[in-house]
Parts: sequence; structure tokens; C-alpha cells
Amino acid sequence: MNIIITGAGKGIGYELTKYLSENHNIIAISRDVSQLKKNDNLHPFSYDINLTEGSNTLFDFIKTKLGHIDILINNAGILINKSYNQLLSNDIDEMLNTNVKAPFLLIQKLVPFMKKGSHIVNIGSMGGFQGSAKFLGLSIYSASKAALAILTECLAEELKDIDIQVNCLALGATQTEMLRSAFPDYTAPLKAFEMARFIAEFALNGNKYFNGKILPVSISTP
Ligand SMILES: NC(=O)c1ccc[n+]([C@@H]2O[C@H](COP(=O)([O-])OP(=O)(O)OC[C@H]3O[C@@H](n4cnc5c(N)ncnc54)[C@H](OP(=O)(O)O)[C@@H]3O)[C@@H](O)[C@H]2O)c1
Repeated sequence: MNIIITGAGKGIGYELTKYLSENHNIIAISRDVSQLKKNDNLHPFSYDINLTEGSNTLFDFIKTKLGHIDILINNAGILINKSYNQLLSNDIDEMLNTNVKAPFLLIQKLVPFMKKGSHIVNIGSMGGFQGSAKFLGLSIYSASKAALAILTECLAEELKDIDIQVNCLALGATQTEMLRSAFPDYTAPLKAFEMARFIAEFALNGNKYFNGKILPVSISTP
């Protein structure tokens, strides 16, 4: 299968890329791709999903070398941990752009390359899951993930006619750089590679069972 993974340079996205590239063609997107070694299955692209520069090379590659995309995993995300009265306008823009606007624009651009039965997986957060425990400093981050979740429901409806499924996994705590900087004293119950394996299997098979769903993937919160 041809799979695009954003935020592939570290954390969960890096582990997802490593695991899925054993048997599939992966386009791995991050600003810093220095940890990703190109091979026949793995095609790293240094690309800021908030900018248009770099997208021509990426889309030329998709058109000329792959032809189509089977799975898009919108995993790239950013968390700026600040209390509500310290958040700056730029912080808000950065989180909403990276966590909501960029995944939406990427979906818009990639759907023309997707065949019937393709799967879009948006990586959300328990913080953006209605009724979950909420944490200080994560107001806009959580709101951005809630927006991504509802976008998932809406896009599943919009893409139903062309038989493309869209789901959102609301992840619980996973030990990565993002979690360490938000909760330095907390140790998550899952390592990045463990969460990545679940996401990978879900991306490959979950659309046979789910469409337009926001699924909590958590044995604890945050
Ligand atoms: N870890 C957790 O406990 C947890 C819980 C719930 C949800 N999540 C979600 O899971 C996803 C992965 O998180 P993680 O914990 O693995 O975080 P991470 O270690 O901070 O990794 C985030 C990835 O996103 C990429 N990224 C950020 N901004 C980007 C941009 N503008 N363009 C391209 N790539 C960008 C980063 O790479 P570059 O900096 O190289 O671009 C990095 O590879 C995120 O969406 C996060 O919100 C994580």
C-alpha cells in the first residue's frame, strides 16, 4: 500500500513509519527528517505542513512515482502548554494551523489521488474528546483536537459517495517528547512504538469496521 504519514520525524510518527515501511511504501513528512533513512519503501520529505513551499516536490513524487495513495495518517501535531491567560495569538494560530487547518488542506489535496476504500486517519487526543478529564495549560491544544475530531465526522460524510473512510483516534498518554515537555513528572503507560503498532493496524484495517468515528485509545488520561 502507499501510505502518507505526517510528523514522521520523531515520537509516534517515527515509530509508525519504521513499522509500516517494513511492508508498505511510506511517504514520511516532517520538518526534520534526519532520523529517517531513505530506502526502497521509505521516502522522507522535509516539509512544513503549514507552508506551501516543498509541496510541489511532494505532489510531483506522488503523481509520477506512486500514482495513488491508500492511507493518509495525519499524525503531525503541536502542543504549547500555557495557561489560558498566557497564550499569545501566535501560539493559538500555530496550534490551530498545525492541528486542524494543515490536516484539512492535506486531505483536500490528496483525495484526488485516493481510490475507493482508502482510509484517512486523524490523530486526535483524549483532551479533545468530549467529557474526558481536562488539564491545565491545554485549552487551545484540546480545542484544536476537538475540532479535528468533528472535522473527521464531517469529512466522512462528505467523502461517503466516493467510498473513502475517515476516522479519528483520540490518543491517551504515550511516552514521547511532546508528553515529556507537557507533563515532565509523568510516565505514560505506553511507549511510542506500542501506540504506533495499534495505529498502524487500525490504519490498515479499521475502515472495514468504522467510518466517521472518534475512538478513544486510552487506558488512562492525560
Ligand atoms: N504523546 C502523547 O501522549 C499524545 C497524546 C495524545 C495525542 N497525541 C498526538 O499524537 C501525535 C504525535 O505526537 P507525539 O507525542 O509523537 O509528538 P512529538 O514527539 O512532538 O512529534 C510530533 C511530530 O509532528 C511533527 N510536526 C510538528 N509540526 C509540524 C509541521 N508544521 N510540519 C511537519 N511536521 C510537523 C514533528 O516533526 P518536526 O518538528 O520535525 O516537523 C514530529 O515529528 C500528535 O498529533 C499529538 O497531538 C500525543
